[in-house]
Amino acid sequence: MRTGENGPAVTDTVWAQVGGTETFERIVRRFYDGVREDPVLAPMYPDADWEGAIWRLRAFLEQYWGGPATYSEQRGHPRLRMRHGPFAVTPDARDRWLRHMNAALDEAELPPLHDAAFRDYVERAAHAMVNRFE
Ligand code: HEM
Repeated sequence: MRTGENGPAVTDTVWAQVGGTETFERIVRRFYDGVREDPVLAPMYPDADWEGAIWRLRAFLEQYWGGPATYSEQRGHPRLRMRHGPFAVTPDARDRWLRHMNAALDEAELPPLHDAAFRDYVERAAHAMVNRFE
């Protein structure tokens, strides 16, 4: 719960409203089920450290939506564009990434406003991550 100058805020964070860690874990696991079967995206994870990747994306998204700041405590400032530099994030890779994320969100069935906000955010973030056009 966020605290304001007059005491605890009356609203919860988005993170809490959608069900906290359990919900983010479900979305990210479903997302990576798609990624590991994707012929373009899967080879970008040569170490096959799927559990590590699941943790990093889940912790990042939780932090973004008002949950615990564990991601930054362990990984530092996100600097996502920089961290994606080594990977060929082409428009095709972006569209595939978004397809798997949207499939995961379809299954999560978040409340409509949260669902729309989440999709809008990942769409914008994915477009911002593109770093190769060939
Ligand atoms: C647009 C297509 C994208 C592709 C192809 C892509 C691919 C990758 C790859 C290959 C990694 C390294 C695996 C790992 O060690 O975790 C990674 C890491 C990560 N990605 Fe993406 N990504 C994309 C978009 C995004 C978006 C939109 C977000 C956030 C909303 C995101 C968040 C992250 C995070 C948090 C990490 C871990 C960073 C770290 O702490 O090292 N990615 N991504």
